[in-house]
Amino acid sequence: MEKLDGCTTPAVGAGLDSEQQRPVDAQFLEDVLCGLAADSKYLHCKYLYDQRGSKLFDMICELDEYYPTRVERQLTSQFAGEIGRCIGPGVVLVEYGSGSSTKTRVLLDHLSTPNAYLPVDISEDHLLDAARALQTEYPELDICPVVADFSGEFDLPARYADDRRCIYFPGSTIGNLEPAEAVLLLERIAWQVGTSGGLLVGFDLQKSVDVLELAYNDEAGVTAEFNLNLLQRINRELDGNFDLDQFAHVAYYNTNEHRIEIYIESLTEQTAQVAGESIPFSAGERICTEYSHKYTLDGFAELADQAGWVRKQSWTDADQYFGLMYLSVE
Ligand code: TRP
Repeated sequence: MEKLDGCTTPAVGAGLDSEQQRPVDAQFLEDVLCGLAADSKYLHCKYLYDQRGSKLFDMICELDEYYPTRVERQLTSQFAGEIGRCIGPGVVLVEYGSGSSTKTRVLLDHLSTPNAYLPVDISEDHLLDAARALQTEYPELDICPVVADFSGEFDLPARYADDRRCIYFPGSTIGNLEPAEAVLLLERIAWQVGTSGGLLVGFDLQKSVDVLELAYNDEAGVTAEFNLNLLQRINRELDGNFDLDQFAHVAYYNTNEHRIEIYIESLTEQTAQVAGESIPFSAGERICTEYSHKYTLDGFAELADQAGWVRKQSWTDADQYFGLMYLSVE
């Protein structure tokens, strides 16, 4: 496992990392301690995406085994014209979890006179880099990055209040929520766009277990590194001392729940420290870091219907690996 140079021990008590003068993220600390104190340990998947995690995730998206990004990109290109017509002219496009905004370019190229593009992401540095890069390619477009956690409530800049909005939510991120939570998020999105607003959402489809499991267990080990980076992040930011060699990445498909379950497994009985708290692990004990639910097109439309969305059109590839759906609030 790669060692990160130049890491100092954060002075958690003082609330500041002594070298970078960066305040310890109190919410991150609270969530980590709470998740690791639970009977079934868990860590919220949004914390996977610090700067290093976001870069590793970009690498995952280029892996042969990780088909979702490739298929979604191909679907977006293939049907960009139709999608652009569904979305319509003069829209403010709001992207949830924009990351590097790679798929967005194709979409922007097929929108008729968009009023603005608002990428929303939790990873500030990554978001701003991506927004800057996009602005040079689209000098005329009003691009307004919003640093926010879309899993909670957040406001869009007030100057776009009167524009028609379309939320673009690609990457099957909606699948990382449990179905009941996904309905709640879809309700919040419906409220955020208001009547005549739209939603273009990408989600992963049910398919053979082999294909699914390979996508989360790549040969090169990038997914493992991405998952374990969360422990490294805790070591860096929360004065943790996880021994990365004593933990392993585990991912498999739960057929009953139609989801990939991703864990970090403790290889031995051990105790880790986080911000002065002891966290005991038994050998084989797991920390759940993510679920990735897989839907059918109809199943997803039903879920969205519960949140007040009407399915307008959907697109899928020949293998039915991935789904894109455009919905509206009537
Ligand atoms: N949204 C992605 C997915 O569910 C996230 C993801 C891909 C992921 N590979 C991962 C999350 C490995 C944790 C570990 O497909």
